[in-house]
This record gives sequence, structure tokens and C-alpha cells, in this order.
Amino acid sequence: MNRSGDEPRPEAIAGRLNADRVLAYLRLARLGRSLELLDDIDSTNRYALERYMSPQHDGAVIAAERQTAGRGRLGRSWHCPRGAGILATIFLFDESRTIDPNLLSLLVPVAIVDGIDSATGVRPEILWPNDLVASGRKLAGVLIDSAAGAARGVRFAIGIGINCLQHRGHFPPDLRDRATSLDLESKHPIEREAVLRAVLVQLDRWLAHPQAWQASDVCRAWIERATPLGSRVRISHAGKVFSGHTIDIDPTAALVVQLDEGGRRLFPAGNSSLMPIDGPLTQMPG
Ligand code: BTN
Repeated sequence: MNRSGDEPRPEAIAGRLNADRVLAYLRLARLGRSLELLDDIDSTNRYALERYMSPQHDGAVIAAERQTAGRGRLGRSWHCPRGAGILATIFLFDESRTIDPNLLSLLVPVAIVDGIDSATGVRPEILWPNDLVASGRKLAGVLIDSAAGAARGVRFAIGIGINCLQHRGHFPPDLRDRATSLDLESKHPIEREAVLRAVLVQLDRWLAHPQAWQASDVCRAWIERATPLGSRVRISHAGKVFSGHTIDIDPTAALVVQLDEGGRRLFPAGNSSLMPIDGPLTQMPG
């Protein structure tokens, strides 16, 4: 509710997620075959890939109230106090290898933006490749892990972390000026179950039909929800930091950047990451 105090406000963090309420009356084509709610787990992504081996678990959802070793992209960690966020993994068993992992990494944040918007009225922006920011601060992140399945299938763990009920003091000091939550961004009370339901609905719309994904559609949907092309960026890739302006998304789901040092370079979603320029996470053109 636009609060900015430094003190943790634990009273905001209440109410366990309830699987029946989350799935009630949801008409999902692929997701939600099961919804397992855990009190404590090291990482829902790790759990999903170790536990779910067979096609019969395709579409399963795991969510936790707390993670003791939540994982972020590029070896980072993901912190969230108990009950304050959505910490969820969607498990997919792609038996026929229909899913293009590059497109998957772009459409997941698209679905999360639409889900968050429909449940809360907060419309985050996507920051390359699949971070979600509001007011220039990180609101949510995506970590997609994969592993071989039986025979020739591929198993995906689509991990989603959304900051919902944190106040400023809940974030570690070094993140306090760079992270936000739905409660801080919204004028209305935030219900985690409503957010999770809406995100599952939006993800299901895409994930139910991977054979129909067109790179041009996915890239357009991503661009429409992302910080505008032309934004100034610093981007870390292969142990180096580059700076320039974003130009486009390539059909292989790579960010095309006009480098300050001259020339254009493609940065693949899997191993590149934006760096703060100065305070906010991006700097607009002009
Ligand atoms: C990032 O922004 O670096 C990605 C963060 C992803 C966090 C989620 S929380 C649920 C799932 N389980 C994990 O261990 N990580 C992801």
C-alpha cells in the first residue's frame, strides 16, 4: 500500500496457501494436475526435478511457504520470508520435445505480467530476459531448470518467485533499494492465492499448446511488456560487461544490443544478465 518504512511489518504476512482454494473452478488444460503445498523446502525447482520423473506428473505445481536454499538465475540465491511470496515450480514433461526452451524463457514472464496485472492491477515490466520490475525495482524472477526425461523426453522445472507481502524491512539491506513487492506497489490488499491462480491461468494458455508457438508472436508479446527497446543497458555475459542500447529480440530469443564500443551483439537469454546502470535497473532512452 505504498508504504516505505524500513521496519519489517510481519503482521502483513499471514495465511497459508490452500490448494483447494487455489485450484477451485480453474479450468486449466495442462497445469494444475496436482498442487503440492510445502511448508519448508530447500528449493521447489530442485524438489520438482528430483521427485517428478514421469509424464504422468506433467503439469504438476509445487509451491512452498518458505525455501531454505531458494535459487536464482546465474548461481544467485532467492530470499523470501515465510509466507511473504509466491515460491512455485511448474513441472512439465515434454515427451515429444515440442517445447523450445528459448521461447519458454520469454513467454513465462509474459504470462506472469498478465497474471499479476489481472489479479492486482499492478503491471510490471519485463527486464531482460525474465525479471519483472515495478517502479524500477525487482518484483519477481524466473528460473527454468531442465533435465533429461525417460526415453527422449525433457523435464522442465519452471520456477517462479513473486514478492507479494514484503515491506521494505523484509528485504536484505543490500536489496532494500532494488526490490519491491506487490503490497508495496498496490493500493489494494494483496491475496497470494488470487495472484497464483491468475498466473497459472495465463501460463496454461501458453503451455497447453507449445506446438502453436511462433517465435514472432512470443517475441512481440515479450517486447510489448518489456522496458522499451532503445533502453540503455549494461549487460554481463561470458565474464565481461558490455554497454549499449537494446535494438530487438532475435528469433532465437537473444537480446540484440548496439554496443557503445561499436557493432551489434546478440546476448542469449540463458547466460546473460542485466546489471544496474545507476540505482534503477534500467535507464530509459533520451
Ligand atoms: C531470479 O530472478 O534470479 C530467479 C528467481 C527464481 C526464484 C524461484 S522461487 C521458486 C523456484 N525455486 C527456486 O529455488 N527458485 C525459483
